[in-house]
Amino acid sequence: MADPISLLIDHAFLEKKAATNALELLTRWPNDWLDGWVEAMTAVARDEVAHLAQVTRLLSRKGGRLDRFHKNPYANSLRQLVRKGEPTELLDRLLVAALIEVRSCERFSVLAAVSDDDELRSFYHAVFLSEAGHHRAFLELAAKFSVPTELSSRWQEMLASEERIIAQQHPGPRIHSGVPSR
Ligand SMILES: [Fe+2]
Ligand SMILES: [Fe+2]
Repeated sequence: MADPISLLIDHAFLEKKAATNALELLTRWPNDWLDGWVEAMTAVARDEVAHLAQVTRLLSRKGGRLDRFHKNPYANSLRQLVRKGEPTELLDRLLVAALIEVRSCERFSVLAAVSDDDELRSFYHAVFLSEAGHHRAFLELAAKFSVPTELSSRWQEMLASEERIIAQQHPGPRIHSGVPSR
């Protein structure tokens, strides 16, 4: 919160990526057809674009502007965990999306608690609730086409890898920053 503008810029790119990821997944349903897949992806994409609009509005009201390019080392490292080739690729992509959602959610809840700006506090609280819904939606879709034991063992592996990846992040005004060392 020491640098709210940089945090909002990082957040905007996160929302943009979440929206494009949902649209990329829109036509990647597993097997012949999966009921609810297209509806879930369009709903996530719609929410993420709405979040992006809200972040960029807040950013400009606070005197900032969007950069043209932005790096997200956390999400890039997570994407490297995806095993290429179906059906594992799709399962892994859903689990990576669920991980990013739940970690964002956790961070938004902390930001809502510590922000002394009313507008930011209510915004962070609203995105906390919305991203929690996305986390559940991605896991529910994964559960529809995978065996429960396979899903839970892969989720545990992903959690262990994610723990290592988040610990490697540098501290700073980013949604997925690391913890400052003391
Ligand atoms: Fe979002
Ligand atoms: Fe989301």
